[in-house]
Amino acid sequence: MNRLPVADRGTVRRALRDMISRHRRAVGVVLVLHGAAALAGLAPPWLLGTIVDRVTAGATVATVDRLALAIAGCVLASALLSRFAQYAGHRFGERAVAELREQFVTRTLGLPVSVVERAGSGDLATRSSVDVATVGTTVRDVVPTIVIATVQLTLLFGAVFLLHPLLGLAALAGLPSIVAVTRWYLRRASSAYLREGAESAELTETLTTTAEGARTVEALRLTDERVRHGTTRVTRVWQARRATLALRTVFFSVVEASYPLPVAMVLLVGGYLLSRDMVSLGAVVAAALYLQQAIEPLDRLLQWTEQAQRGFASFARVLGVGLVPPEEPPGTTAPSRGQRLVVRGARFSYAGGHDVLHGIDLEVQPGERLAVVGPSGAGKSTLARLLAGIDAPRRGVVSIGGRPVTDLDPAERRRRIALVTQEHHVFIGTVRDNLSFAAPDATDEQMRAALATVGADWYAELPDGLDTALGDGARQLGAAEAQQLALARLVLADPHTLILDEATAALDPSTARRTERALAAVLVGRTVIAIAHRLNTAHDADRVAVLADGRITEIGSHDDLVAADGAYAALWHSWHGQADER
Ligand SMILES: Nc1ncnc2c1ncn2[C@@H]1O[C@H](COP(=O)(O)OP(=O)(O)OP(=O)(O)O)[C@@H](O)[C@H]1O
Ligand SMILES: [Mg+2]
Repeated sequence: MNRLPVADRGTVRRALRDMISRHRRAVGVVLVLHGAAALAGLAPPWLLGTIVDRVTAGATVATVDRLALAIAGCVLASALLSRFAQYAGHRFGERAVAELREQFVTRTLGLPVSVVERAGSGDLATRSSVDVATVGTTVRDVVPTIVIATVQLTLLFGAVFLLHPLLGLAALAGLPSIVAVTRWYLRRASSAYLREGAESAELTETLTTTAEGARTVEALRLTDERVRHGTTRVTRVWQARRATLALRTVFFSVVEASYPLPVAMVLLVGGYLLSRDMVSLGAVVAAALYLQQAIEPLDRLLQWTEQAQRGFASFARVLGVGLVPPEEPPGTTAPSRGQRLVVRGARFSYAGGHDVLHGIDLEVQPGERLAVVGPSGAGKSTLARLLAGIDAPRRGVVSIGGRPVTDLDPAERRRRIALVTQEHHVFIGTVRDNLSFAAPDATDEQMRAALATVGADWYAELPDGLDTALGDGARQLGAAEAQQLALARLVLADPHTLILDEATAALDPSTARRTERALAAVLVGRTVIAIAHRLNTAHDADRVAVLADGRITEIGSHDDLVAADGAYAALWHSWHGQADER
């Protein structure tokens, strides 16, 4: 499995710098407000120290009252300022997160389909849910908290220095153990959290594929094997989490034990200085109070540093999605003569596997109907994906109108070729939203006409016409209706080549019949390559290609192939016999 890339540290730093510089003003306001709040918070300990000194010197109750009132005023001002600062901080955070989500969606939608498929759904799912959310909290809560704590700490320690430089030095002397353990932790945390993220992705992947393939798992009696696989993954996640937990355990215990150190140092040195009359008692009291006050922001800073680490790791994974090279080399979009679909010597293997297509040669004329038949696993769906340009052949070429399909830019490719499978997703939104993906410029009239073409008679009963909301909690479409909506999208996109891969295979017979009628309306005037699971489709086609084991073994009209009495003829007789008996 090829995981999506992860951005390196430099890229993450650049992205962060960009984010901050885009919101320069907001960040500035947040910093100024927090700085002001922290400054107002510095006054009370100093005032308290002053009270101590004045009382020692025999001051009156009135002086003490005045100073106490000033303390109350400062506390109030500090509270108000930090409230506004937090508000501004969260506004900035929410904006930045919204931008990030939008960028993520744009990047994800721009990923080449083949890259997404190779990366597995778990990786992308984890990145779009867990990682984007982690980055969200980091930007919204963690970064502002760290900024506030840093500002407060700088001011508090600065204030101790102002009281007396030796007191300041004493306070700093309590810090080395905290700094050392933090560095130790940070060096290990980033990769440990990246590993945790990757293991979670693997687990999600394993569990979703097991759940999605539940029937297959049952049918092939793979239950034990899947359970074992799941257990392995769970164990790995557990190990990864235990590793990060071990880091946290050491880190936080050392830090907790180190908190009282600066206060203790200041009291020791303060006592000595006091005995020599170098500082006042008030100054020592104020310094001790400052350092007591510093414990809280220091604690916050360290707590959130670990959050920031997770955020950094998640951000690297989110940004990584943007590192996949874009789908197109757009090339020249000059209109090309003829739309002949030509396959020459196409070989293909799924990542790391052996070839499943061994040199396919095929030409399809504009307007032709080609049916492809063959046993399960012959490579029919794979061929369909190559024809639609979703995957590129390992060797050889698939071209339309003389240009390799994978060279067409995505918009142009959609206009030319569409692959129709059994999957029809109805997006949450209105009918119009669902149709305009295919043709952003389509008028309401064209949309209604497209729905009529595919026989979507349910449209007439919709309360709000094209504005009717679809999806969860709104109008739910049945399987046939969803198919018709998808087909109407196709009518609007108007590709001249359609590749049908068992588009109706999974539907119940009556739905399938309705869908086939709708499909027939869509096929008119287009080149059609149909992977056929019912031989009457092959019978009605202009030509039939038999694919076996990654090779085209027979190709020709139905009548010719029956006359040739080969594999197709055998298939036809056996199927026809069954059909007659019914
Ligand atoms: N995503 C994949 N990764 C690896 N191997 C794959 C993948 N998809 C298909 N294959 C393998 O490629 C071969 C051709 O598969 P393909 O799906 O093209 O067959 P098919 O003719 O469409 O079969 P069916 O009639 O069952 O749909 C098979 O051996 C299959 O196991
Ligand atoms: Mg198939």
